[in-house]
Amino acid sequence: MAERITAPAFVAKKAKGERIVMITAYDATFAEIADEAGFDAILVGDSLGNVVLGYPSTIPVTLGEMVHHLRAARAGVRRSLLIADLPFGSYQAGVNAAVESAVALMKAGADAVKLEGNYFDEIAAINKAGIPVMGHFGFTPQSVHQFGGHKVQGRGDQAESIITATKQAEMAGIFGLVLELIPAELAKRITQELSVPTIGIGAGIECDGQVQVITDVLGLGPMKYKHAGKFMDGRSLVTNALTAYRDAVVNAEFPTEQNSF
Ligand code: KIV
Repeated sequence: MAERITAPAFVAKKAKGERIVMITAYDATFAEIADEAGFDAILVGDSLGNVVLGYPSTIPVTLGEMVHHLRAARAGVRRSLLIADLPFGSYQAGVNAAVESAVALMKAGADAVKLEGNYFDEIAAINKAGIPVMGHFGFTPQSVHQFGGHKVQGRGDQAESIITATKQAEMAGIFGLVLELIPAELAKRITQELSVPTIGIGAGIECDGQVQVITDVLGLGPMKYKHAGKFMDGRSLVTNALTAYRDAVVNAEFPTEQNSF
């Protein structure tokens, strides 16, 4: 079996000039498939809320729901670095809350955790507890109401404040960071100025790696996003398969002799 990707091995990829590839997964089946497909990191993202639990945003996702899905994903992952999102409300109240929440995710099987925004003291405290922390800057979905929707961040004057924040997060101890929905030029500058890997989603080709939501890659969701890479029309394929199964039952063509005992 190929060697496990640890947080230090993830960081080392940047120095070696190796591109990093990451995808979300929320259960054992898809986590296992992603692991076997050779992803460096698998993220049990709080996009769980939108893509699995049917919530309107990531905001309602609880720590308990993250733990539940993380345990399932852990069962499928052998080699990839398994990162879990700290959900909204689990770290904003201060360093104690942040460390307790991060510990809960580690006990449920995470190799590392991720949080959104300028929580530098919380990053340092989680790091001090021996837990690798990833940052997340640009459009941070847990702040969607403050942004007034899914909007590109870091245009014009905003760029400098994002650069400053990413540098502070690096000093606080992040081992990598997601850059979401920011101009490609800004992502390129951050990637050049930081020594930890940048992982883009809607942040251009110059990041050290890329992350996508698995349902977007597989084309399972009804929505089409500009930043999303669709590598399969999963919704049509699944619909066709389910329709074929339904029809086979209705027409008494399933089960066959081969499916019977
Ligand atoms: O929750 C998630 O899926 C994420 C990715 C968009 C990076 O944070």
